[in-house]
Amino acid sequence: MTDPQAGAEFTALDNMPFHLASVEPIRQVVAGLEGSCLDPGGRLTDLTPREHLARNAALFTAGGSLAREFWADTALGSRIQGTSARTATPVEMIDLCSMTCNTVLGVNDPWVKLRQAAFLLSPQPHYLPARIGSDLFYRVAHRILGRLDRFGAPGDFVINLRQCNGSDAVELALHAAWLAARGTPRRRRLATFRGAYHGESILASLVCEDDPAYGSGRALVDRVDNVVRFPSPRCDDGGTLSAESLATLDALERDGEEYFAVLVEPVQWRNSVHAVPLEFLRRLREVCTRKSICLVFDEVQNAFGYTGTIFFAESSGVCPDIVATGKALTSGHGALAIVVARREFAEVEPPFGSKTNSGDMLSFVAVDAVLDRLTGMLPEEFAALPAWLPPGLVADLRGGLLDTAYPRVAGMLADFLAELQHRFPALVGPASGLGLVRGVAMLGEDGRPSGDVAGEVADACLKHGVYVRRAGHCVYLKPSLSTTEADLELAGARLAATFEDVLHRAARKEPR
Ligand SMILES: Cc1ncc(COP(=O)(O)O)c(C=O)c1O
Repeated sequence: MTDPQAGAEFTALDNMPFHLASVEPIRQVVAGLEGSCLDPGGRLTDLTPREHLARNAALFTAGGSLAREFWADTALGSRIQGTSARTATPVEMIDLCSMTCNTVLGVNDPWVKLRQAAFLLSPQPHYLPARIGSDLFYRVAHRILGRLDRFGAPGDFVINLRQCNGSDAVELALHAAWLAARGTPRRRRLATFRGAYHGESILASLVCEDDPAYGSGRALVDRVDNVVRFPSPRCDDGGTLSAESLATLDALERDGEEYFAVLVEPVQWRNSVHAVPLEFLRRLREVCTRKSICLVFDEVQNAFGYTGTIFFAESSGVCPDIVATGKALTSGHGALAIVVARREFAEVEPPFGSKTNSGDMLSFVAVDAVLDRLTGMLPEEFAALPAWLPPGLVADLRGGLLDTAYPRVAGMLADFLAELQHRFPALVGPASGLGLVRGVAMLGEDGRPSGDVAGEVADACLKHGVYVRRAGHCVYLKPSLSTTEADLELAGARLAATFEDVLHRAARKEPR
């Protein structure tokens, strides 16, 4: 048994990421595999990265799915060790976007891996269809639903744990809202917002604004006629809701009986990481309640740690009728998405509600372990941790990273952005977003925000060994909770080199 006080003197700063295999009892297991075909350090093919990448066109569908910049060998936290595809030289990449926004704990989180390893060694079924129950499934459901306890009486919320991707969860949320409105055939409209992104399946993409910058290839249907896209909610310069946003609320108040749902992303990442004003969300909640419209939050980007809580309702006080989320749930250790809904929206009908690959028990172990990491362990389980766990990890598991790492990393990130603005005023404009979901505007030669420059910078960053993404006219930064000061220092030096390159090229009028 671990002394629960053992980690007390460790602060969050001591909690450097570590590989699970570096802990003594695990090292012994790994040593038993060395030299065999199960050797965790063994190679899987004989080709070099360059040889693999040269066969891209012959092997894979074209478009965004091809590896082309970098070859990853090993990774830990925010660092990925590998090879530059361009120069074939070794590079240690700094990941400032949690591997496309999924790995809220960083890569190879030792606790999630340990929990999955323990599960794999158990005789429990590793996969179960929807009609067969298990402890794990029910435990995860209770734990996630518990986050919304303060927004209702016990049993007010229900969960669907059987989706794989965020797009599935968004679609299921819309299906449940649509079904709940079937008694009122006038309610056929869906309200969405310009600049929002809801996924890549046909329905999810149909309800988004068609944005040529991100492509618009669809199948079977080009558009639907019952989606109303309101302007992205904003405040004016004085900090009060813009006239357009007030007009949106008025329109929903006036025509509310025609809407079955309003779908909103609390932080519109693709819209240059725009955080929807809280006042708008509060008033939207009031209108939806008055008019019996189902309010759906698409929290695929922001939930599970990125804005400091599990669900946005917990920090904002605005609780939707349905939350759809995915991505960070498993911190990249399995494909899982969920829908949490008020009981009025509990019903779903076949063929919806149960995706084939959502019966993967390792994903449920992962979400359970991610909850341990973010919010702290259940006290009786914390008291039974193995004695050999590193004290820093034990300290983290007591109270959870949302209380320790989140304020530290969010604060470091805010300083990091301010420093970039200070150093590169000609290129770096205002920051947007909140918490760990941040954008920083890239300015063109005319001093105005430019999507082209943001794209150019994001591409150049990868060549300089920093992984970020483009989001509208911003560079999108969404670091994991494992990010250290040293990570940001190195990332800052590389971003500075990237910015200098871009400015230099612009000064010499070199083609982009
Ligand atoms: C806000 C939002 N909704 C939905 C999705 C779709 O999620 P997935 O790609 O897992 O289908 C995404 C993906 O980026 C997203 O950012």
